Amino acid sequence: MNVALKTQILPAGEAAVAAAARILAEGGLVAFPTETVYGLGADATNPAAVARIYQAKGRPAFNPLIAHVGNIAAARKIARFDAAATALAEAFWPGPLTLVLPKTESCAVADLATAGLDTVAIRIPAHPVAREILRVFGGPVVAPSANISGHVSPTTAAHVQSDLAERIELIVDGGSVAVGVESTVVGCFDAPMLLRPGGVPRAEIERVLGRALVQPPADAGTDGVQPLAPGMLTSHYAPRARVRLNAQALQPGEALLAFGLGAISGIDATSTVMNLSERGDLAEAAANLFGHLRALDGKGVRTIAVMPIPNEGLGEAINDRLRRAAVGRE
Ligand code: TXA
Ligand code: MG
Repeated sequence: MNVALKTQILPAGEAAVAAAARILAEGGLVAFPTETVYGLGADATNPAAVARIYQAKGRPAFNPLIAHVGNIAAARKIARFDAAATALAEAFWPGPLTLVLPKTESCAVADLATAGLDTVAIRIPAHPVAREILRVFGGPVVAPSANISGHVSPTTAAHVQSDLAERIELIVDGGSVAVGVESTVVGCFDAPMLLRPGGVPRAEIERVLGRALVQPPADAGTDGVQPLAPGMLTSHYAPRARVRLNAQALQPGEALLAFGLGAISGIDATSTVMNLSERGDLAEAAANLFGHLRALDGKGVRTIAVMPIPNEGLGEAINDRLRRAAVGRE
């Protein structure tokens, strides 16, 4: 970034939505709440605006973006829906599901946003502020999570501010998000593929499809290989601290990221402990995950030990993000 911008922060409401739509139309960058995490939006059809997203985030340009639209008619202008895609869209939109689909001939999403692929990722978000911005702006908005590339995704406007202040024009503050992990990404290929676990649990998607989701090839997310879904990049979602998974005992000097009220040895009065969900609720844990990681990081701890989290329902997305946070740091 050469010139520091003055970043405006506005509380969600009519004035903020109008400002967001105007800034998007002018090629600017606007962070806004979705139900999953805060997104960093740009006009999907404006290549210069899309390029600024990569610049502001420090994001590799081979990592494609999700186009957010307000309704299914707008989605169909961009992408071709087969029967499986139609069923998933009907079941889960608006909501925390992203579909990767073949582009239409007339797809107006900039090539840079799809990293030159012949597919495009689309989602209709459920958050009322995101929906209002999309309605007033009137076109597709590409929006990755509103964090510096490789950092933990933002679940509050303050998180966005600490990563992107002076790099973007506007942050619309809609409070804490409800889901807390990013959308589930499903590739609607010959066999529907789970590209990224997320806010819609795998089992719910498989129930609608009437079949199991296939797994991406084992090397799809490894370094140096063009990722099928670069959210699969191995070290993503990383706090500064080292992350140690499946901790059964707390080592001296470690902070604990707990789940439930299960016993763990090694805790004393000086230990730093944050609990994702004392009652062992996975939805509550997902909503707290990134905020707790940021808070522990902010305390400057060297290592975050994480208690085991069941790998069912939203637990699959939580464990996926925690594994990525731990890569290269164990
Ligand atoms: O919940 C979310 O999805 C949030 C909010 C803001 O909507 N957005 C988000 O975007 O998480 P981002 O850029 O952090 O993640 C987008 C994911 C990446 O894993 C990317 O690789 C995948 O979607 N993706 C995008 N286009 C793709 C494509 N054409 N083929 C395969 N994967 C794609
Ligand atoms: Mg992201």
